[in-house]
This record gives sequence, C-alpha cells and structure tokens, in this order.
Amino acid sequence: MSEARVPWSQVFGNDRPVEVEIGPGRGELLLAYAAAAPSSNFFAIERAARAAAAIMEKVAARRLANLRVVAGDARCIIARLVPDASVAAYHVYFPDPWPKTRHRARRLTDPSFAGEVARTLAPGGVLHLASDLRHLVDFERKYAQAGTHYARWRRPGGTGGSGSR
Ligand SMILES: C[S@@+](CC[C@H](N)C(=O)[O-])C[C@H]1O[C@@H](n2cnc3c(N)ncnc32)[C@H](O)[C@@H]1O
Repeated sequence: MSEARVPWSQVFGNDRPVEVEIGPGRGELLLAYAAAAPSSNFFAIERAARAAAAIMEKVAARRLANLRVVAGDARCIIARLVPDASVAAYHVYFPDPWPKTRHRARRLTDPSFAGEVARTLAPGGVLHLASDLRHLVDFERKYAQAGTHYARWRRPGGTGGSGSR
C-alpha cells in the first residue's frame, strides 16, 4: 500500500510544511488559514463532495495557491495516500459525531484513525481537535492525553513541544 503514498512536494510543487484539515465543512477556517500563512501548504479532506467543490470554488476565486481540497473519506485517504511523518498539523473541528454505539465504526475518531495520525505527523507535528461531545473527548483523553473539549497533541521529537496538554 505504501507505494501509492504521494509526496507532498508533488501535490504542491514545493517543500513547505503541510497542514491537513479533516471535515472542513464550508471551509472558512481553512481558507482564512491559507490566506494568512502563504509559507505553509493546506490540504482539506471533506467527505461531502458538494462541500468540497464549494471550497474549491472559493480557493479559485481567492487565488490561493497553497490550498488543495479533495473529496473523500479522510480515514481512507490518509491511510492510503499520506506519507509517514509528513504532516505538520492536523485540524479536526467538530467531526460528525455518530453518537449511537452501533455507528461507532463510522466515527472518525477511532483507534485506527489515531494510529494514522501518529504515523503521518512529522516530529513535533500537532493534532488540533475540537468537539463538544463526550465520546470524542474520551477519545482525546485516551489517544491525545487531553481532558478538555479542545485537545492539542504534539508528536514527540519536535523542538519545544511538551508532549500534550
Ligand atoms: C459537523 S461538520 C463540521 C464542519 C467544520 N469542521 C466546522 O467546524 O464547522 C463535520 C464535517 O466533517 C465531514 N466529515 C465527517 N466525517 C468525515 C470523514 N471521515 N472524512 C472527511 N470528512 C468527514 C462532514 O462531511 C462535515 O462536513
């Protein structure tokens, strides 16, 4: 499977750090980040094809050269396409909750997703995850070692990272 993984330099045409947002929805946060930080690259993975297309239209209208959007399931795309230790930051804000226990397997925040985040984060890379739901907070506690509704987890190995908060 790893032979299919795509170097970010081929996606963006440069070696700048890459931040990934999963489930950006309307994408306004990501669009603002990309406009504010032209020295970074931003990659959005949005399962809803219409929402992804709408963000792409805004990217074109705002002439943002450092933002790419792909429509699909982030769990699959990250596992198959994202190289090891290559993502400077993940942004996951209010992912779909799938609150029923029988829908647990559909949740983004499951152990295999946590494993993919750990595999793909660069040394010192950060996962930003916000949720107002208890089961996602529990996930954060277990895998991101955080106890609040906002988790920021830094992969060990960077300069200046403290591990968790
Ligand atoms: C509740 S909305 C939040 C949107 C945005 N992050 C915000 O805070 O306003 C959740 C978004 O995540 C997307 N999403 C859920 N699961 C996903 C997955 N596995 N891969 C990619 N996108 C996903 C949904 O399509 C939806 O746009």
